[in-house]
Amino acid sequence: MAWKRGGFMSIWKKDAISVIGLGKLGQPLAVCFASKGFKTVGVDIDETVVDAINRKQATVLELGLQELLDTTGNNLRATTSFHEAIASTDTSIILVPTPSEGEGNFSSKYVEEALYSLGKALAFSKKSYHLVIISSTVSPGTIEGRLIKLLEETSGRRLNEGFGLCYCPETVALGNTIEGFLRPDMVMIGESSPEAGEQAETIYKQFCENNPPIIRMSLINAELAKLALNCYVTIKISFANSLANLCERLLGADVDVVTQAIGMDRRIGPHYLKGGLSYGGTCFPRDTRAYIALAKSVGLKADLIEAVERVNSWQDTHLLEIVLKEVERAPRRVVSVLGTAFKPNTPVIVNSPSIKLIRGLLDAGVDVTVYDPLALPNTKRLFGQRISYAESLLTCVQSAPVCVVATPWPEFRQIDETHIHWNPTIVIDCWRILDPEKLGVRVHYIPLGRGPQTIRQ
Ligand SMILES: NC(=O)c1ccc[n+]([C@@H]2O[C@H](COP(=O)([O-])OP(=O)(O)OC[C@H]3O[C@@H](n4cnc5c(N)ncnc54)[C@H](O)[C@@H]3O)[C@@H](O)[C@H]2O)c1
Repeated sequence: MAWKRGGFMSIWKKDAISVIGLGKLGQPLAVCFASKGFKTVGVDIDETVVDAINRKQATVLELGLQELLDTTGNNLRATTSFHEAIASTDTSIILVPTPSEGEGNFSSKYVEEALYSLGKALAFSKKSYHLVIISSTVSPGTIEGRLIKLLEETSGRRLNEGFGLCYCPETVALGNTIEGFLRPDMVMIGESSPEAGEQAETIYKQFCENNPPIIRMSLINAELAKLALNCYVTIKISFANSLANLCERLLGADVDVVTQAIGMDRRIGPHYLKGGLSYGGTCFPRDTRAYIALAKSVGLKADLIEAVERVNSWQDTHLLEIVLKEVERAPRRVVSVLGTAFKPNTPVIVNSPSIKLIRGLLDAGVDVTVYDPLALPNTKRLFGQRISYAESLLTCVQSAPVCVVATPWPEFRQIDETHIHWNPTIVIDCWRILDPEKLGVRVHYIPLGRGPQTIRQ
């Protein structure tokens, strides 16, 4: 073992790591650890996932994942056995789901189940010490309020004696997880003791390629920092969206010019500051709910974040109104929607703005044809026969007199007049990724976030 609690820590030998939960995040994380030379054990309760990983077959679609998995050789194996994880590794990182529950708190049900299994395996183990790192997002107060007690009870060990515990929340974004794991802006470590924090710091220093700042803190502060980070990003997104809405009503205004300018100011920064559609995915909408629930639980009102949720939901209404207005003028009540994933490079459609648009269009009796480079299987599972699915970008654009570019996939940028069938075709470009010059005279181009020079009144 590389680490002896309170004793000498070798910087020459890497810890063996187990990653508990091989889903959208855990799978790329385990593969990254193995690719960096850590002996890695992936643990999941889903045998199909375990079998696939042992056959070197990725089960989640993530940029570069399969290629990296192919390079992992003997460094990565997967199992359903927590005993194996405890027996053959020094540190376990937990990355199981934490969905919203009731009031909006994160459910820690799956984390508790994983800790229960880990604790039982620890109880059997002859090893004197194991580090447990929780990376799943949890509600502030959960670790010290419930999880430590659970692990102490199931393992029969005391915190900081028989095991150490850290909270290292993941800040990566789907579609970019491998880069996000290997080259993070920073690593946050909430620690149960300085020794536990030091062991985690050593692991991340060996793992990350960009020598990121490592910020060590208490467990509660790390829990809060993760929630605060995501909620702050939703404020930025919603601010850019509010600006875009303003620009649409002001002669000659262009949200991209405004956000590019203010993003140069160090107090603001350029990232997540592009006016467009509502934020979606598995994290942001869940995290704002959790923030509001947390504030309520301590007798506060989260006015700012509640306003963010209102702005975000208004973006969906706004888009539907714009599209329906164009449908009323069109020769056929059919709309082509380009992109159903909530963002490019992922098949995830959870809380996707285009999914909400499609639902609104169906409710209004409008036919819909969709195309997405990765998300069509998930979209088919959701809508079945209620909508049509195009096999290509070309056939999707040609299928309707109104076309909405909803997800800014890079391949959509190639749309030009050779894609156009209907005369006229209304193209609503939610992220302003198309070149209107290339679309030809049959297209009425509507870029959201730009003023009336370019929007038909
Ligand atoms: N998805 C994101 O963009 C993102 C970003 C940052 C943080 N997170 C956090 O990461 C965590 C994991 O998210 P995800 O999107 O990878 O989840 P996921 O649903 O894609 O995968 C979870 C995996 O955990 C497995 N699992 C469930 N219970 C288990 C148990 N008791 N033991 C072992 N395996 C178990 C499931 O079988 C599944 O394979 C969540 O807390 C999430 O909030 C997600």
